[in-house]
Amino acid sequence: PQELIFFDPSILQTQSKIQKEFIWPQTERPNSLQDLQAPLIDLQGFFSGHHDSTYTAAKLIDTACRSHGFFQVINHGVDLSLSHQALNFLDDFFSLPLSLKLHASRKPGTMWGYSGAHADRFSSKLPWKETLSFPYHNSTISNSNPVVLDYFTSNFGNDFKQFGLVYQKYCEEMEKLALAIMELLAISLGVERMYFRDFFKNSDSIMRCNYYPPCQEPELVLGTGPHCDPTSLTILQQDHVGGLQVFANDQWKAVPPVPDALVINIGDTFMALSNGKYKSCLHRAVVNRHWARKSLAYFLCPQEDKVVRAPSVIVEGPRKYPDFSWAELREFTQKHYRADMNTLQSFS
Ligand code: SIN
Ligand code: FE2
Repeated sequence: PQELIFFDPSILQTQSKIQKEFIWPQTERPNSLQDLQAPLIDLQGFFSGHHDSTYTAAKLIDTACRSHGFFQVINHGVDLSLSHQALNFLDDFFSLPLSLKLHASRKPGTMWGYSGAHADRFSSKLPWKETLSFPYHNSTISNSNPVVLDYFTSNFGNDFKQFGLVYQKYCEEMEKLALAIMELLAISLGVERMYFRDFFKNSDSIMRCNYYPPCQEPELVLGTGPHCDPTSLTILQQDHVGGLQVFANDQWKAVPPVPDALVINIGDTFMALSNGKYKSCLHRAVVNRHWARKSLAYFLCPQEDKVVRAPSVIVEGPRKYPDFSWAELREFTQKHYRADMNTLQSFS
């Protein structure tokens, strides 16, 4: 595996001149003129079993996913005090001494743990952020200990139990929402309503916490470089600062934060499940001069050995992708990721 270039993240706050490792080529630097048309979808009617609102939501999702794969949801059923707490805890976590954060330092070739500015699969340039990533799966189904709670206490000690409990609960809520959205995606693609919900039952998911410090020359750097998510469905909670951008119709477009809305996007694996009808689109995050920005990304992934194959009812004409498993795609992603295209294009 490629070696991680590691910087003490405190240099993000203190360096007086941006080091060359963080400076992106001219053509890739942040610029965004318009906002993305990412519809704001109210899930209230769907959750209360209202037929017409469910079909209206599915139609809006269909249009957004055929065009670029991004939409937003409100009345999503996730307890707002829990999501605010999950976001606020990021300030507490990332302001810990580096030595403590390094207890969970991310090892080369793995997906889990803490990293300061590092370059790996996204690009050779360093992103202006710190991250903490950990795995999640449903412990009730697998009859195991709560995995996120265990992650925090085993890496950071019992003082971190409260963090573990909050992120455990947050992941459980994210899984619930992701599976509910799978029902809507089934309706919008015209397959049996429970098809994708069943497919993603007992999934192996990923949680990533992002902290983007302010930057004195934000026009030279990127918080997260351009990439497509290789996973299936992403649920992003961004704070009020803003910085997410999506490449759609040959332009970078901003997704400004909407209070208490969650941003949803299609990843490469779901693009394959839809036989390419639904897009997995390039996106990135920019930073700014004044404010730190926080985001929480939950990535739904299938069970790692399950065969990913579009259901025949939605395949018109040839199949666009070979059968694969998430384990295979994930491994490929770690070795051969191209930041400027979706992974499946090079994998197939
Ligand atoms: C990502 O796509 O990995 C991060 C997006 C964000 O922080 O807005
Ligand atoms: Fe992403």
